[in-house]
Amino acid sequence: MTRPMLAASVPAFDRAARDRVDRLERLLAAGRTLTSELDLESVLGRILETARELTGAEYGALGVLDERRGGLEHFLTAGLAEEDPEEIGAPPRKQGILELLIGRAEPIRLRGVLGAPTTIRARTWGGLYLIAKQDAEDFDDDDVATIDLLAKWAAVAIDNARLLRETTTRRDDLDRALRTMRTAMEIATAIGGDTDLAHILELIVKRARTLVDADGLLIWLRHGDQLRIAAVAGHADVPDHASIPLGASTAGQALRAGRSVRIEDAQQMLINPAEFGMAQATSSLIVPLVHRGRGLGVLVAFDSRGATASFDADNELALEAFAASAATAVATARLVEAQRLHDSIAAAESERGRWARELHDETLQGLASLKLSLAGTLKANPDRTRSVIESAVTQLERDINALRAIITDLRPAALDELGLEPALRTLVAGVAKGAGLLARVSIKLGAVRLDADVETIAYRVAQEALTNVVKHADARTVTVELILDAERLRLIVADDGRGFGEVHDAGYGIAGMRERAALASGVLEIARAADGGTRVALELPLG
Ligand SMILES: Nc1ncnc2c1ncn2[C@@H]1O[C@H](COP(=O)(O)OP(=O)(O)OP(=O)(O)O)[C@@H](O)[C@H]1O
Ligand SMILES: [Mg+2]
Repeated sequence: MTRPMLAASVPAFDRAARDRVDRLERLLAAGRTLTSELDLESVLGRILETARELTGAEYGALGVLDERRGGLEHFLTAGLAEEDPEEIGAPPRKQGILELLIGRAEPIRLRGVLGAPTTIRARTWGGLYLIAKQDAEDFDDDDVATIDLLAKWAAVAIDNARLLRETTTRRDDLDRALRTMRTAMEIATAIGGDTDLAHILELIVKRARTLVDADGLLIWLRHGDQLRIAAVAGHADVPDHASIPLGASTAGQALRAGRSVRIEDAQQMLINPAEFGMAQATSSLIVPLVHRGRGLGVLVAFDSRGATASFDADNELALEAFAASAATAVATARLVEAQRLHDSIAAAESERGRWARELHDETLQGLASLKLSLAGTLKANPDRTRSVIESAVTQLERDINALRAIITDLRPAALDELGLEPALRTLVAGVAKGAGLLARVSIKLGAVRLDADVETIAYRVAQEALTNVVKHADARTVTVELILDAERLRLIVADDGRGFGEVHDAGYGIAGMRERAALASGVLEIARAADGGTRVALELPLG
């Protein structure tokens, strides 16, 4: 049996059959291009174009609902004349056909209209429809099969695009989480090798800025009821030592509340960003630095340079996670710094103590016994060596007294044993008596013991200030006051002498007082007193 030649020998296998083969081939060709195309919009465009071509429809449209199903994410039309795009896209009709499709699982064929739903995971997300078949009364069964297949391909393409988008978002989230973790780890590593507070703040401010892609970023640290600038990165510009009140600044309020704040309009902040060189700032993100429940300060970011105009919830989360490790870093560095201060004061004082003991136990005892033996010799030999020995004894007595004074000066026993008040009282009384000064002392510490470093610093500053009064002031009266409240200790030494000519830090005394004050984050002020004398005021923060 010979096989008949398809088109030539069987007349019935005519144009219609050839059309079918042709349509199939074109469908397959369309399918191949679809799998090589990544951009959803162009995939959908091709599907729609193919559907219209293969069915000979005059117009076609494809609509896809957005993920909330509230509106259309895609709406493409084909075959519409440029000048009347509304002809089939007109909302009532468009909505009408699409709505009809959304409720269905199968294609529909109405008079002159053919539609098929795009169904993804058993839900309809819109559909493909065609209007007005050219050269025929209406769409046929082959058209129905074609549009059904193409609508299904559209569904697969949409599903893939959504999965891709979801994966990308997840990967971005993961990326961000990783970046935050890496930054936090970098800080942790830096702390291991670097306990310098200034370095750590520098590291935090730079990393935080990169993390949220901010235009400017500031770190404010809390000091009592003020926030003081601690570090700046980016385009912000803040004067050194700038401070703002806790209660009257947006950053301070966020710190008090212990909560992050995102601000859409930075111009509405209590202190205008222009003060910090960010006059153009539109948005801000404030995140408190909290360590073990204590608000240490705040990170304030201005203007995201990212895709979104203002900072978003992701930025907030990232900066919060970061702020937690940053706060630990700051707290640790501060602890180390306090420890260092303590160590340096302790080392200096123990050195003085050692000297005091040494002089007392060795030199002083030696001198005393020499004095005794000289006196003994004197008794036994009342001859002309007498006057020589007598003057030697007098000299020795003077030396012994001087040495006693040096020993007390090096490390007053009273400071260790009895505390600041008795030690200061003894000091003032001794100095006043020696110099013939009238001393007024107002100290109400009683037996209260302060931090050993604070006591030592206050004592040393009082000591130098009193020495200066005796050396330079030519005063009649000296007043020493010590005032203690919950947050600070204040020491005032004032005289009624000639006062400072010009302020000249000629010797080591004033420089030393300032250094000691700074060691304990305190402040030293030297000013002309009301009565023309000199007033030295030391303020040391407690705790
Ligand atoms: N109470 C005071 N009244 C008047 N002038 C003062 C007083 N205290 C300090 N001065 C002036 O300030 C200068 C600097 O004081 P500072 O204590 O630094 O140095 P010094 O006392 O001269 O030397 P050193 O303290 O190193 O022994 C003094 O030389 C003196 O001119
Ligand atoms: Mg001096």
